[in-house]
Amino acid sequence: MKSVTVTASRSYEVLIGRGLLDAAGERVRAVSKAETAVIVAGDRVWPLYGERVRRSLERAGFRVLNYTLPHGEQHKTLETWGALLNFLCDQHLTRSDLLVALGGGVTGDLTGFAAACYQRGCGYVQVPTTLLAMVDSSVGGKTAVDLPGGKNQAGAFYQPLLVLCDPDTLSTLPEEELRCGCAEVVKYGMLGDEGFFESLRRTPVREQAEAVIERCVTMKRDIVREDEFDTGLRRLLNLGHSFGHAAEKCSGYTILHGQGVAIGMALITRAAAARGICPPETVERLCSLLAVCGLPTECPYGLEEMAEAVLSDKKRSGSTMHLVVPEAVGRCRVEAVPVEEIPLWLRQGGL
Ligand SMILES: NC(=O)c1ccc[n+]([C@@H]2O[C@H](COP(=O)([O-])OP(=O)(O)OC[C@H]3O[C@@H](n4cnc5c(N)ncnc54)[C@H](O)[C@@H]3O)[C@@H](O)[C@H]2O)c1
Repeated sequence: MKSVTVTASRSYEVLIGRGLLDAAGERVRAVSKAETAVIVAGDRVWPLYGERVRRSLERAGFRVLNYTLPHGEQHKTLETWGALLNFLCDQHLTRSDLLVALGGGVTGDLTGFAAACYQRGCGYVQVPTTLLAMVDSSVGGKTAVDLPGGKNQAGAFYQPLLVLCDPDTLSTLPEEELRCGCAEVVKYGMLGDEGFFESLRRTPVREQAEAVIERCVTMKRDIVREDEFDTGLRRLLNLGHSFGHAAEKCSGYTILHGQGVAIGMALITRAAAARGICPPETVERLCSLLAVCGLPTECPYGLEEMAEAVLSDKKRSGSTMHLVVPEAVGRCRVEAVPVEEIPLWLRQGGL
């Protein structure tokens, strides 16, 4: 088993190991004296893993309740969040009790935000079951729900007590979802580790899941330690996201998030090469790795459409956008770009 310690406003362990689901009880008991633990899981994940986690928590002496969420981003809403809070209140949970988020990023974000707000804050544990949630969303304490006006528009920074990643759960994850997680994994390689980037070409992620998760979590930990509240360095994690969100939006969300991130990384890297910020071989290396992972590298939308979508994105602040720009495989920088220059960057990205 591997362990990574995150030091933020609260310190906690991220444990990564096969079979951790069945050891959840003892691990959670080591960080919580709660009487009651509520397992919050999506309606696809609960039938797969819910009972195992329940039994393990009961063995460790918790009274266990479960709450099932409808799956999908369209349910990451204030309504679903409010219904969970009402359930906790109806069950007379106290702030010394515990929530256990079992599932992907949607479940983790929503449960974390409920934990942040229930009685002004109760403890929660993340048990991620998607690659994306293991390498990214379960670590770092960003919790949120979507509003009609945009994704993640209501939320809080609220760190978990513990994160338990059991890579065995990836065996049931649909291939498409795994590929989306791979886009974030490639992103970490681009951000800070050329050797890791190369290892992804040699060995598929499924065959080295534990090592991949540990590497990504360690990199995220290092970034969060410097910038928990996302005012500087943490912006690096948005590599590929500004243009990626725009591609998702143009597609009416038929392009999945990870596919959008892949397209966005390819676009920004082409633009960086056109500007002489990175060598042309960086584009080739990125695009060929994304292709190996089964991810797209070409944007199917035109310049005008994309520019409009980029500029309506929430990451724009005033007249400037912060773009994460590759300088090489393994090294990126944040660049403040005047919004009127965005169409030029997109054109240089190949549109
Ligand atoms: N908090 C953060 O820092 C952060 C970072 C990145 C993304 N996010 C958020 O994460 C969310 C996306 O997360 P996601 O990609 O995990 O999507 P998701 O939570 O929607 O899960 C994807 C699908 O896989 C199913 N599933 C989950 N685990 C499974 C398993 N082991 N076997 C079979 N099916 C399984 C789910 O039911 C769902 O249908 C977005 O809402 C995004 O905003 C948050």
